Amino acid sequence: MIYLIGNWKMAPEKNTQAVDLVKKTAVIAKQYKKTLVTVICPPTPFLSLVSKNTKVPLLVGAQGVAASEAAAQTGLVSASMLKENGAQYCIVGHSEMRARGESNDMIKQQVDRLLEKKLIPILCIGEKSRDAQGWYLSEVKDQLDTAFADVSALQIKKLIIAYEPVWAIGAGAERAATPIECREMTVFIRKFLNDKYGEKIAKAVPIIYGGSADEFNARSFVEEGGTQGFLVGRVSLDAKRLAALAKSISQEKK
Ligand code: PGA
Repeated sequence: MIYLIGNWKMAPEKNTQAVDLVKKTAVIAKQYKKTLVTVICPPTPFLSLVSKNTKVPLLVGAQGVAASEAAAQTGLVSASMLKENGAQYCIVGHSEMRARGESNDMIKQQVDRLLEKKLIPILCIGEKSRDAQGWYLSEVKDQLDTAFADVSALQIKKLIIAYEPVWAIGAGAERAATPIECREMTVFIRKFLNDKYGEKIAKAVPIIYGGSADEFNARSFVEEGGTQGFLVGRVSLDAKRLAALAKSISQEKK
């Protein structure tokens, strides 16, 4: 199965628009349910509304979680609250959150809280920029080392890793990664998992790609980039483009 995970970020503005987008995304999820696992991650205020308007095969995720369940954390939401409001997945470590000060240690605690509540973390990792010497690999290695410190083999199987090179994300992106750049990183991540958890687990953890993924480039990431799915930002807000993306990655290989 290929993961198609929509990260709505801080959009849309209105409840009615959120419901409309859910309904349209549900049609896509249903149409491609044999090949895709489709998940949408709306902003927290829409979580309950979206969950009420969704049914399997369209699944729901959140965009962030507090690192502890302590109540005195103004502005944050706990893993229990997310679960209570219909989330099964949750994005953690997104570069837009890291840019606001989230450290590898905080992200590690968020992963732990989600696993405790049996929510599936979508752990984002990725380098800020690339250099010819390959130092960016150690940036990603640090993110992996910290996030998976004392995460057991049993837990790791319940997690998705999203490779999101920061330079490829959002409207200001330089460009999307190339499938070759993506493949290099999926191999690097698999090697990390293999060294830490062994081959069977290394093969079982889904590694997906995010960063300017669209209906034109997605298929090449599946065929040549070693990815098992996508974390999609802008395109997830446009049902027509999302449908085209879903179609492109669901086609049989020639
Ligand atoms: P984008 O966002 O698809 O708009 O580049 C991806 C992401 O931030 O997850």
